[in-house]
Amino acid sequence: MDKLKISGGVPLAGEIRISGAKNAALPILAATLLVDAPVKISNIPHLHDITTMIELLGCLGVYVMVDEKMNLEVDSRPLHSRTAPYDLVKTMRASILVLGPLLAKYGDANVSFPGGCAIGSRPVDLHLQGLRAMGADIDIDGGYIRASCRGRLQGAHILMDTVSVGGTENLLMAAALAEGQTIIENAAREPEVVDLADCLNAWGADVQGAGTATLVINGVPDLSGGDYQIMPDRIETGTYLAAAAATRGRVRLKDTDPHILESVLIKLEEAGAEIATGDDWISLDMQGRRPSAISLKTAPYPAFPTDMQAQLTAVNAVSEGVGAITETIFENRLIQAHELNRMGAKIDLEGNTAIVTGVETLKGAPVMASDLRASASLVIAGLVAEGETTVDRIYHIDRGYECIEEKLQQLGANIRRVPG
Ligand code: EPZ
Repeated sequence: MDKLKISGGVPLAGEIRISGAKNAALPILAATLLVDAPVKISNIPHLHDITTMIELLGCLGVYVMVDEKMNLEVDSRPLHSRTAPYDLVKTMRASILVLGPLLAKYGDANVSFPGGCAIGSRPVDLHLQGLRAMGADIDIDGGYIRASCRGRLQGAHILMDTVSVGGTENLLMAAALAEGQTIIENAAREPEVVDLADCLNAWGADVQGAGTATLVINGVPDLSGGDYQIMPDRIETGTYLAAAAATRGRVRLKDTDPHILESVLIKLEEAGAEIATGDDWISLDMQGRRPSAISLKTAPYPAFPTDMQAQLTAVNAVSEGVGAITETIFENRLIQAHELNRMGAKIDLEGNTAIVTGVETLKGAPVMASDLRASASLVIAGLVAEGETTVDRIYHIDRGYECIEEKLQQLGANIRRVPG
């Protein structure tokens, strides 16, 4: 397994480009199953999860052509299977996002039941509850979700007990081709849900209210397709800003959008960062100063995103003062504390809160990645630590960060990938 070797202590400086958003590209790739024509999707990030989704579409019979800039042409008309197999779903839970589109378009779907992962049990009960409300018959058999419906799905008034990004996306895609109107109450408001809704509307759907807690979808008989450009990745953006803050650096990120991560920018300013923004860029300057500890609580958008929690924990680890980081979305998403403590951090876990007492610096060590964002926090810690840090199992990182070592090298980091 590849590893990342990092020699820390270098303040990040320079400019990099932000890639397209993984968590917008995944549902939009699933949405191609709804369309009766080839579609062109640009600004797709070159990530392992994207490759897995392309592989899944391919195994359903969908035609996918990738050009050298990772722009895709997708045509789902040759589809010949409605089964998302275990060996693909087990590597990427977001495969569940083909369930709603297959059911809405073809009237049946067999999707391997996605298991949990390092950060939590990751149930899909809200996805299934909503599809049943739209008239689907759903059984769990042999580790598969077996779903079918007689004729078209029917519009329904659905209340989601918990805010669920994937659940909202699955039901939104199913409702796009359902008979009549669907209203989704307590819908997720994440920018990636808005990007999916904008894409569906560009392809001929009728989705209103995206970005609010109430989605109104008027089903249409078919989607005509078109071109679409994926939004920038707000979590990649926040991760590089956090790395610059921890290393007391000065960076500029382009091809991003400051309006989709306001909560992160506010917390970084609280930590002492000087932040400037434009339509498609963000700059952060610590003026060589050590960050100040901040406290935060994760919650659904527009609150502080759970996908940025581990990264801010790493910043807090080397900040001045004590900060409390509370994780309210996933039951096991403070696991990076243990590896950070092995690098000299002082993090005490009290239930779903990490109490972080900042230290002047960390000590490099061999550490192991456990999930995507925890891995990012270990890289940030390695960038600021004295000595060498080796991050193992970085396939976790390759799922969500495009060319991470190249981008960090562009910012002056002493980091290289070594074959494991
Ligand atoms: C999406 O996961 C993201 N993944 C996650 O990003 C992100 O952390 C998460 O949303 C929260 O923002 C993608 O978009 C591919 P949820 P998802 O359904 O949709 C509970 C990353 O690092 N729940 O919003 O799986 C669930 O247990 C990844 O890029 C149910 O109870 O998350 C959790 O507590 C990690 N029943 C809460 O809702 C359900 O049916 C939020 O989960 C579904 C979810």
